[in-house]
Amino acid sequence: MNAQAQAAAPESYAAPQEFIAKAHVDAARYEEMYAASIADPDAFWGEHGLRLDWIKPYSRVKNTDFTFGQVSIKWFEDGTLNVAQNCVDRHLETRGDQTAIIFEPDDPNAPAQHITYRQLHDKVCRMANVLRSQGVTRGDRVVIYLPMIPEAAYAMLACARIGAIHSIVFAGFSPDALANRINDSAAKVVITADSAPRGGRKTALKSNTDAALLHCSDRVRCLVVKHTGDQTTWVDGRDVDVKALMDHAAPDCPAEEMNAEDPLFVLYTSGSTGKPKGVVHSSGGYLAYAAMTHQYTFDYHDGDIFWCTADVGWVTGHSYIIYGPLANGATTLMFEGVPTYPDAGRFWAVCEKHKVTQFYTAPTAIRALMGQGNGFVEKHDLSSLRLLGSVGEPINPEAWNWYNEVVGKGRCPIVDTWWQTETGGHLITPLPGAIPAKPGSATKPFFGVKPVVLEAESGKLIETPEAEGVLCIADSWPGQMRTVWGDHDRFQETYFQQYKGYYFSGDGCRRDADGYYWITGRVDDVINVSGHRMGTAEVESALVAHAQVAEAAVVGYPHDIKGQGIYAYVTLMNGVEPTDALRKELEAWVRTEIGPIAKPDLIQWAPGLPKTRSGKIMRRILRKIAENDYGALGDISTLADPSVVEDLIENRMNRG
Ligand code: WTA
Repeated sequence: MNAQAQAAAPESYAAPQEFIAKAHVDAARYEEMYAASIADPDAFWGEHGLRLDWIKPYSRVKNTDFTFGQVSIKWFEDGTLNVAQNCVDRHLETRGDQTAIIFEPDDPNAPAQHITYRQLHDKVCRMANVLRSQGVTRGDRVVIYLPMIPEAAYAMLACARIGAIHSIVFAGFSPDALANRINDSAAKVVITADSAPRGGRKTALKSNTDAALLHCSDRVRCLVVKHTGDQTTWVDGRDVDVKALMDHAAPDCPAEEMNAEDPLFVLYTSGSTGKPKGVVHSSGGYLAYAAMTHQYTFDYHDGDIFWCTADVGWVTGHSYIIYGPLANGATTLMFEGVPTYPDAGRFWAVCEKHKVTQFYTAPTAIRALMGQGNGFVEKHDLSSLRLLGSVGEPINPEAWNWYNEVVGKGRCPIVDTWWQTETGGHLITPLPGAIPAKPGSATKPFFGVKPVVLEAESGKLIETPEAEGVLCIADSWPGQMRTVWGDHDRFQETYFQQYKGYYFSGDGCRRDADGYYWITGRVDDVINVSGHRMGTAEVESALVAHAQVAEAAVVGYPHDIKGQGIYAYVTLMNGVEPTDALRKELEAWVRTEIGPIAKPDLIQWAPGLPKTRSGKIMRRILRKIAENDYGALGDISTLADPSVVEDLIENRMNRG
């Protein structure tokens, strides 16, 4: 290696010796377990599936087929279990008085709650009985639209207990988005709260739900958690006071015996086309995978206090606030607030207050807090921290170094975990005692995961150690999604059609000479805004639904804090004047159509959009202009009217 290449080679960071000595796996053990998991998945997962309590043990482990046209994914298919029993009841004997959930409210002066496994059992059973009293039974769908409060956990586990399928809608979504999800899954019940305090401000969840329910069947019941006590409207016969009913419900409720393949939940997520799709996760395989990744990736040990800062409205909250930790009998922290309230030291204040040992957050939060200076971190005693985690988007080296040095004081390994709503749990991630980190790399596959890099165009498998292309997975793992709710064809077309025989992740990646994977971002029309996944097509269809918009094209562009920002090119109807007032109106319009997270950061008035002669919008060009990289537009000779591009460059919004 010459001196220059050496200087450019990324540094690698191993965990401190005392960490490795206590870790579940070291380097040798990782290699051994990984090799075993690939050589004989049936034996490997047959053994590790036993980390769950089964009512009827499985005899068959893996039965999966990635062949386009007949995709089918089943794990532990003849086993039966109950997920809530695994997350709650089975811990009662050994850790009934241990804290299961620490609840830290938005208001820093309000008391935190410590909910033991025994108390959790009581609440989950009562909530399950309330659901039953509303006619919810096995297989029914229940939409949950709640703040980050313990009732969200009770509701999820209550559904699992009676075999109902939950579908959580992030509390930042609009009434329209909520109505779409209630209707698509034909939910019987929606569980909401009066309002959701975040950062000292409140979102009126109940009135959002009222607005959504105007577009839904009038048989949908509305269960309301009176959380803040705010006044709300009340529709007799439809609205139900959950807490009041829970107080009177029986504190015990039998757990349904579910098949391993029965759906545990549906979670809607954005894709490159059309409306968000309902990702369906299973009971047995999902839980085993969430629990196992939680234990190994975070090196969780008894007595640790685990904090994942995600919202339960996203998959990260499902797998690493609720299901993974609770299946492991862990103590998990649920935080209602935001990182910057009452000040930019809140995360660190909470870590200090509750002696958090593992802390898991998103690069966008790290960057935002880094921008506030080190003082907010240094004010707090963070000596309880042992490990730091990152998820949601590639973490840039600057943020990585700050996280490592200022937050972790150079003694906490960082796990950069790559995964997706579809994957149920981590697929590529360092195991902290085994795999030295390189800033910006998600490093190596978890047990049982076979990543491959394909040439994007030809789909050819790249077999050299160093590779760059699209990231696919060659075989199934237990946490994989099973189908798209109500549309198995869409499932196959989205993930298995383009690259035959593989699961296509939608991400690009590079593999280096050490076999480390570096995720380079989405190769489709999905963007990642502050760690929130957004389909550009969704924002476009919201924009064109406005009476004064003729056409819209939306792309991502690099944003210092958010990772990616939303850049919208908007063509107005003939004769409509482009004004600042209209720009504000369109921003507000998208907020109400989808939610605040979808609000465009930049709107450029586009008299025309670059199109091929067949009328296809050339997004590649729009992306380049949004990235302020218009020098490298590539071939524009196939455009119907190349002069359109000059105008767009001339009036570009991102001159950063
Ligand atoms: C991106 C979140 C780089 C990626 C769990 C993926 C990441 C999408 C990482 C899924 C990471 C997630 N490094 N990129 N560590 N983690 N991504 O479904 O583009 O909300 O496809 O799941 O986030 O987002 P989703």
